[in-house]
Amino acid sequence: MSVKIGRNDPCWCGSGKKYKACHAAFDEKIARFAQEGHRVPTRDLIKNADQIAGIKESAKINVAVLDYIEEHIHAGMSTAEIDKIVYDMTTSMGGIPAPLNYEGYPYSVCTSVNEQVCHGFPSEDVILKEGDIVNVDCSTILNGYFSDSSRMFCIGEVSPEKKRLVEVTKECVYKGLEAVHPWGFLGDMGQAVHDHAYANGYTIVREIGGHGVGLKFHEEPWVGYHSRKGTEMLLVPGMIFTIEPMVNMGDVEIYIDDENGWEVYTEDGLPSAQWEIMVLVTEDGTEVLSW
Ligand code: MF3
Ligand code: CO
Repeated sequence: MSVKIGRNDPCWCGSGKKYKACHAAFDEKIARFAQEGHRVPTRDLIKNADQIAGIKESAKINVAVLDYIEEHIHAGMSTAEIDKIVYDMTTSMGGIPAPLNYEGYPYSVCTSVNEQVCHGFPSEDVILKEGDIVNVDCSTILNGYFSDSSRMFCIGEVSPEKKRLVEVTKECVYKGLEAVHPWGFLGDMGQAVHDHAYANGYTIVREIGGHGVGLKFHEEPWVGYHSRKGTEMLLVPGMIFTIEPMVNMGDVEIYIDDENGWEVYTEDGLPSAQWEIMVLVTEDGTEVLSW
């Protein structure tokens, strides 16, 4: 709920301009979509220029950390070493690793190897070996602004089957990105991601999705990949969300480790891959803020 703003009052976005000269037409356009029965974003999901600038600073750290890991990840390294790199680099740049203590999560990063779908715990006992595929999922808080992205890494020579899974999953993310347009719908993206994975014989995890991000770690909307074109939330300039499908080589079913309540695995033990990008919807398209 929000109080109605007078046309001559300052705009809610903080621009300092009069509402009628700023977001009035924008709000009317959103209201028309709502009247037609579409889900529409609330104002707290629409970031202003200052917030976007702050989120971009946060994302710079996130990208720098992933770039460093990309250069240094190797067979024989434990995933605990990756956790230490993420903690040390993030804090030395003035940030905080967002996963650390998030809802009780005990590490600075998620490292998910092979049949681990997501939320893998870094460990001294998990030594990366030739042929592994691993997702490193980094998230940063800087001055209260959140960024979030993840990449896959192939350790040495991996099987052609795993390599194809990793590549197709990345393609899925870019197909999804191409389907994001201002005044389009989240389901346009979802269907594009879905169709590419399934056309390649893969499945996409249903229970875990992406999310709005920026002022909090996880904001609305929830971002799934089993939605259809023209459905789900209206996308408007200023929204920021992640595209992060978990693509399984085999069956769609997953389970959560019941001892720690976090680590997610494929039910059939076949590999799973994930890439995550953080996308800003702009006036005329998109801008990838973290990758
Ligand atoms: N970074 C992941 C995401 O995309 C998951 C982090 S959840 C955590 O939301 F609790 F493990 F941090
Ligand atoms: Co995320």
